[in-house]
Amino acid sequence: MSFPEYNHDKSRELFNRAKKVIPSGVYGHLGPAEGLFIPVEKWPLFSERAEGTYFWDVDGNKYIDYMCAYGPNVLGYNDPDVDAAAMAQLKLGNCTSSPGKIMVECAEMLVDTVASADWCYFAKNGNDTTQMAIMTARAYTHRKKIIFFKGYYHGVSPWQAKIDYAGVLPEEVQNNIVIPWDDIPALQKAVAENKGEIAAIIAQPYDHGNFHDNVVMTKMFWEKVRKICDEEGIQLIIDDVRAGFRLDIAGSDHFFGFKADLICFCKALANGYNMSALMGREHLKNTISGMNITGSYWLSSVPFAACIATVKKMKELQIPQMFDMLGSKLINGLKMAGKEHGFDLVTSGMPALFYLRIANDDSLYLHQEWIAECVSRGVFFASHHNHFINAALTEEDINRTIEIAEDAFKAVKKNHPEMN
Ligand SMILES: Cc1ncc(COP(=O)(O)O)c(C=O)c1O
Repeated sequence: MSFPEYNHDKSRELFNRAKKVIPSGVYGHLGPAEGLFIPVEKWPLFSERAEGTYFWDVDGNKYIDYMCAYGPNVLGYNDPDVDAAAMAQLKLGNCTSSPGKIMVECAEMLVDTVASADWCYFAKNGNDTTQMAIMTARAYTHRKKIIFFKGYYHGVSPWQAKIDYAGVLPEEVQNNIVIPWDDIPALQKAVAENKGEIAAIIAQPYDHGNFHDNVVMTKMFWEKVRKICDEEGIQLIIDDVRAGFRLDIAGSDHFFGFKADLICFCKALANGYNMSALMGREHLKNTISGMNITGSYWLSSVPFAACIATVKKMKELQIPQMFDMLGSKLINGLKMAGKEHGFDLVTSGMPALFYLRIANDDSLYLHQEWIAECVSRGVFFASHHNHFINAALTEEDINRTIEIAEDAFKAVKKNHPEMN
């Protein structure tokens, strides 16, 4: 089958207006500046509306969306149950002088759901939770140093930046130790060389970083990390902002068979309503209680109502099993389509958060071209980021995705006669 290429004139027009009044037009991961949209002409830059697994751009083009707002879309855009719960709460009150009682109900539900959680501290963004986690670990241990795994991303605060980032002082990152993933001897060495000085290890549940194949850790790896933390009094922080609830409703630490001391959630928590939550173990509750951290909208009620409805529905739908099944079906179909046209499509990470790479050339140009050809025919991917499944995705959508992907493979091959 062949699919016509989309036109993005209105996106371009809007981007030109945006650039005049918004630094870099669309900043951060939703925009082109991070190098995920190459060649940029093939991507829409603004959306008009969204529904279920689709969004429509300002030129009226429809996309099957595998970025899911980079994670928050877990049940489908505008999920009717979540929106009804949020709207009912909106009528009662949202941003009020005393928090709504729904805050307590939401915390109780999350503590019952997440295996390692004895308490729950609400915020807005993933970065708020990783920042609070580090502060809590430092306050509890009276230590400064933090161990990170290579390729980490935990948000944008200065303490987690790389030394050459604009506006970051060397002092802000001087207590950071970065070691490779899945290298217990390197971890043991770092701990021995900094004995009694390490407050925390912060890590995603597996290496789901950008610009490289994703690597899933073994349960044995995490068992060893947990043991080292217990022996050395190091707090183990799991950053489940991206993977949270997609692998296991009880938390990704539960999926890998261990308990974090602190666990950070955001994206899938409320199906796009703006909230995040740091959860933790009992021994850290007094410490965080004594800290001065909050924000104007952190205790707003509408997202709590959305969160309760989202988690309830994620449990009913058995989201992790569903995403594993849908993700596996999709990646198998894509790989087979690639093979048929001479492309070696490598898939990595968990099927619920699959990462794609065409391995025919090391430069990644072929890969970027193929992703761009998919996007300009209605399958919204990003070149060097993991993708996301949502519950509104159907087998029919997956079949259409594979057909579009095939057409995109053909288009790339046509542009590369050396492949024939
Ligand atoms: C693993 C991880 N941690 C932290 C963050 C930061 O979350 P936020 O952008 O909501 O501050 C992200 C965002 O993509 C993330 O993927």
